[in-house]
Amino acid sequence: MTQAFQPRLSRRVQSLPPYLFAEIERKVAAKRAAGVDIISFGIGDPDTPTPAHIVEALIAGARDPRSHQYPTNRGTAEFRAAVASYYDHRFGVSLDEETEIVPLLGAKEGIAHICFALLNEGDVSLSGDPGYPVYTAGPLIADGTAVHLPLRPELGFQPDLEAIDPAVLARARMIFVGYPNNPTGAVVQDDFFVRLVAFAREHDIVVVHDNAYADITFDGYIAPSFLETPGAKEVGVELLSLSKSYNMTGWRAGAVVGNPAVVDAYWRLKTNMDSGMFAAVQHAAAAALTGPQDGVRELCRLYARRRDLLVGALRHVGLEVASPKGTIYLWAPVPADHTSASFAELVLNQADVIVSPGAAYGPSGEGYVRFSLTVPDDRLHEAVERIAQRVKL
Ligand SMILES: Cc1ncc(COP(=O)(O)O)c(C=O)c1O
Repeated sequence: MTQAFQPRLSRRVQSLPPYLFAEIERKVAAKRAAGVDIISFGIGDPDTPTPAHIVEALIAGARDPRSHQYPTNRGTAEFRAAVASYYDHRFGVSLDEETEIVPLLGAKEGIAHICFALLNEGDVSLSGDPGYPVYTAGPLIADGTAVHLPLRPELGFQPDLEAIDPAVLARARMIFVGYPNNPTGAVVQDDFFVRLVAFAREHDIVVVHDNAYADITFDGYIAPSFLETPGAKEVGVELLSLSKSYNMTGWRAGAVVGNPAVVDAYWRLKTNMDSGMFAAVQHAAAAALTGPQDGVRELCRLYARRRDLLVGALRHVGLEVASPKGTIYLWAPVPADHTSASFAELVLNQADVIVSPGAAYGPSGEGYVRFSLTVPDDRLHEAVERIAQRVKL
């Protein structure tokens, strides 16, 4: 018998970190197969639908034969005008529609591909730890090196820019930051963006600010754009995502905006990879950004209510969880005698509830678990009851 063909895989793919949720997923599958009712706080994917006027715009866009041809990676004039209008109204930031805006097939795609535009082999990309996992995988796939900057609660989960090793700084070409922050729920503090601009200038490092949770904030807090900071556009770009503000995770819609040289480099790269965002989705995204925003405010009220409910339940069982001003996550320290994985396992075993172990977001995430607030109200109530009654620390 001939041996089965074994494709030889790239070093790149082989160097990707192991999938940290594998063990939990295996357990969940086994429990579900045994008929156990599992409630998942694992993934941050909105459970409520996209607002109707955005869906209608997609339908109208899909009916327009002009949508049926290849789009361009530059984006339609309507889409770019809508992004510029949103930045103007929402942040008071003016963007050049010709040179400072390019669509992304979601911020995730932008995070991964911008690394190819900015890094050569061995160059360093800095990012907060814990952090969105693509900040680490993106540089790795682009043959760069991802260096973690620990985010500590005593510094408000802001990286200590002064503490970075000078040898690392000399090789650093880019830095990912994102506030409101996944997974910590932290919002940007004091003059951090001002210091970040000075840091980027001094060390010649491009800032990529991931603003995926810009509009998901609570208690009257309004999150800024990095581009509001004087000098920001000279050193960096911002990633806009429609996923969370408009419940559009499935649509893959966002934009990279800001420094024209970085935006252009990303665009040149992308013209060789895909043919841009479906024009009907661009039409719908424009409707989302320029249409009524009451859906966004309603979402914030929904998440704030869920946050309060869950924070109360977790404190009741003895977890010292902070109440975040933004994002759809709670970042809870686990009891001292647990690792993040062992605590996630305990909650799964005792309450049939899934939480994400913090170590999945980087080494400094050890000692925490993340709860996503994207669980429908009735299931959230059920989970809260289970946690309160069954979890014994
Ligand atoms: C910090 C952060 N950036 C980007 C993304 C992905 O956004 P998009 O759906 O626009 O790709 C997520 C999704 O959870 C996220 O948490």
